[in-house]
Amino acid sequence: MSKANSNLKLLNSDLNETKKWFLDQIQEIKTSIHIYTHLDADGLSSGAILGKALYRETIPFQISVLRQLEREEITRIATLNQDNESFMIFSDFGSGQYLELIEKLNAKNEETSFIILDHHLPQDIPNKDDDKIKEIYANSRPWHINPYFYNVDGSTEISGAGLSYFFAKILNERNLDLSPIALVGATGDIQRQGPNNSFTGLNSTILEHAIKNNLVEVISDLNFSPIKPLNEAISYSSEINLPGLSENSSKMLKFLQSLGILMENSDGSIKTLNDLNQDEKQKVSSAIIEYISLKLDIDPSEIIKKLIINRYILKNEVVGSELHDLKEFSYLLNSCGRSNNGSLGIAIAMGDRRMAYNKAKDHLINYKKSLVQALSWIQDKNKIQYKDYIQFFFGEDIIPENIIGTIASMLIFSKSGDIDLSKPVFGCAKRKDEEVYKISGRAHESIVKKGVNLSEAIREALELSNLKALGGGHPPAAGTKVPISKIEIFLDNCDLVIKKQLESK
Ligand code: C5P
Ligand code: ZN
Repeated sequence: MSKANSNLKLLNSDLNETKKWFLDQIQEIKTSIHIYTHLDADGLSSGAILGKALYRETIPFQISVLRQLEREEITRIATLNQDNESFMIFSDFGSGQYLELIEKLNAKNEETSFIILDHHLPQDIPNKDDDKIKEIYANSRPWHINPYFYNVDGSTEISGAGLSYFFAKILNERNLDLSPIALVGATGDIQRQGPNNSFTGLNSTILEHAIKNNLVEVISDLNFSPIKPLNEAISYSSEINLPGLSENSSKMLKFLQSLGILMENSDGSIKTLNDLNQDEKQKVSSAIIEYISLKLDIDPSEIIKKLIINRYILKNEVVGSELHDLKEFSYLLNSCGRSNNGSLGIAIAMGDRRMAYNKAKDHLINYKKSLVQALSWIQDKNKIQYKDYIQFFFGEDIIPENIIGTIASMLIFSKSGDIDLSKPVFGCAKRKDEEVYKISGRAHESIVKKGVNLSEAIREALELSNLKALGGGHPPAAGTKVPISKIEIFLDNCDLVIKKQLESK
């Protein structure tokens, strides 16, 4: 049996126990099940999958979307739960706070009144190889499900939405039709890290379900947005750099026209990638490969690795809509969550194609604008600062907390070269309602391979700085919050810990 199959077998058998226990627990409960989930695309996908699954079982539920399961939130949830004994599901967070949840929500009972379905590194373990993971696994049956218990990498092989999907499928086989939403969640969490942006691990198993059920189709395509005017999609691609043409959409249009491709539709609009036939796509791809290899002296095989990707099509969605392509779908959900419209995202992921979808499209435009503005502000004003082993920036009054993580990710993946990929980047945004900075750390995979683990680094730096906040995430992406007065010392400690991580490997 392959590694993925044996992992899945054990996961499914545990989920079966979790299901029985859950159905038993909720028999006596008089209120609805409360699902708490994270505000990003993966969190909203998880919430939607769980909501739909409970709806189908006629189990009443409500969903709350949180920016993070911080200590203060857990206290608030515990207070709420005191007078109102309910059952909770935490999805896409909870593992990084499981001790806190036990302490605050389990004060009176022998058993927990919640389930955690999360893919982040559990609280108190520094990394996936730590022996303590077995101990946590043994002590948290049947209410805690986490991929690291099954030797599955939670950072790339399964998302919060994926775990919610496997749970939903155990509840009812009919929930197989939610497999595409699980893939939207994984895409939002940048888990497509196999060759040509493909899925790996348990995410590929979910993909198999989606393909077998005729819900998703995989095509090989150019790595540009399929729905933007093609000249804009290419010139503003964050991954493909064509010196002289990037960031200049009118020059790019002339370049495309010079290939003999008719770039206007009959209504005068510029064609998108979706509007081109195979022949035309081939012409564009050859011209780009030739252009980049001449200008930048890069081997064509290296260019192809970035240029040609797997595109995952949702077969039941309208061609040309944001929901037809997994990546665009995940952008839409992210923009909902990050503009305080999480409920719109959940409604869309649960199937709304009318009011919620139309409203979300309006928010998407503003969201994209705010990202573009934030990135150019960083670049134009040289906002990146450096220490020996890390780099960091402050959002000031330009980049708010809700997009600081997205901006840090975009910097790491950007083609612009403003960022030193050999150092992790920490974005710091002042929170509106508290005297703290929200911190988002991101590291390029090349240094993760060399031993950088940001989840561990942030937890260690918090401890070294005597800070009580919860923090963590994954090796390449992690977060926390830090009081304004402690930011210098915290960043110094991050520098120290990263140095240690790189030297000890
Ligand atoms: O908040 P941000 O996007 O920077 O978080 C990066 C990753 O770390 C996310 O997957 C998030 O869920 C996780 N995280 C966490 N615990 C925190 C803060 C962030 O697990 N306290
Ligand atoms: Zn996630």
